[in-house]
Amino acid sequence: MMAMAVGELGLGLKGSAAPVVGAGREKSVIQNGPSRAPTSAHFWSRISQKVDLRSSNVFGRILGFGVEAPSTSTSSFSVRASSVAPEKSKSRPGEKKGFVEEMRFVAMKLHTRDQSKEGEKEADVQPVGQWKPSIPGYIKFLVDSKKVYDTMETIVEKASHPSSDEYFRNTGLERSARLAKDLEWFASQGHEIPEAGPDGITYANLLTELSESDVPAFICHFYNVYFAHSAGGRFIGKQVAQQILDGRELEFYKWDGELSELLGAVKVNLNKVAEEWTREQKDHCLKETENSFKYSGKILRLIVSA
Ligand code: HEM
Repeated sequence: MMAMAVGELGLGLKGSAAPVVGAGREKSVIQNGPSRAPTSAHFWSRISQKVDLRSSNVFGRILGFGVEAPSTSTSSFSVRASSVAPEKSKSRPGEKKGFVEEMRFVAMKLHTRDQSKEGEKEADVQPVGQWKPSIPGYIKFLVDSKKVYDTMETIVEKASHPSSDEYFRNTGLERSARLAKDLEWFASQGHEIPEAGPDGITYANLLTELSESDVPAFICHFYNVYFAHSAGGRFIGKQVAQQILDGRELEFYKWDGELSELLGAVKVNLNKVAEEWTREQKDHCLKETENSFKYSGKILRLIVSA
């Protein structure tokens, strides 16, 4: 079932329309347009299936039980409320402030010491302050990032119930259309825009899989992808712009409205969703942070690739 889902994603990609960012020549820029999550397995109906069947939760109330959910599942995540973990009663750092604070705490520890003062990992052999970005490398990073945001945003957009809008759709954090504009600009400057590379494709496929089979893990990636970009991502963008773009600020680093307010609204909804999770589901989500760093880290490193 999972392999089939990835296969369907591939088919969807071939047949999917490019996003509307211009005509003619620009098409080459945006040929990595939004990938299409399989229509048979909607993210939101998966939420209602995966979570609601264990406990009445916010999505159950909003979406109704099992809307479009298949009757069987090969979910890789099937912890039941009854399988109580020994550390269940131990409180987690940040827990009192809400689940987003828990996710943030785990994420900050996974930074290297040169990335953030809260980081606990050994400083990188090539700390970010010493990065020597190249334009082709930076374009690769933008292309692969777009692949990831296209996929993330398509998954959320394809939710089967309109009420889920108030959760993670149209948050104002979406990056796909802005990345398309940036790539158009690079093309207009005579730069070649490649297809998405293996790092972006692998991560995008993982996100599609998780949205179908493991919602808490998917939510972890959702949080890290958008919040990391608003923090370290912006810092890196500024540094790269000064080094190789004469300080030009790309669309990728611009938001409509006050970023802190956009993030705040998403935090509230992430907290609401997680409030309905079991401790096991929360811990499972937190554990996925390492993967989030692994996959996003690979894409970030493209900046310093040739
Ligand atoms: C060179 C790479 C990176 C640098 C320089 C960096 C740097 C930073 C900095 C300075 C902050 C702000 C800390 C604060 O609130 O005071 C931050 C926050 C954060 N970073 Fe990173 N980071 C990097 C990579 C990553 C990666 C790969 C991820 C995960 C995919 C990530 C996830 C986060 C998250 C979730 C936050 C918290 C955002 C918030 O509180 O709203 N970072 N990072």
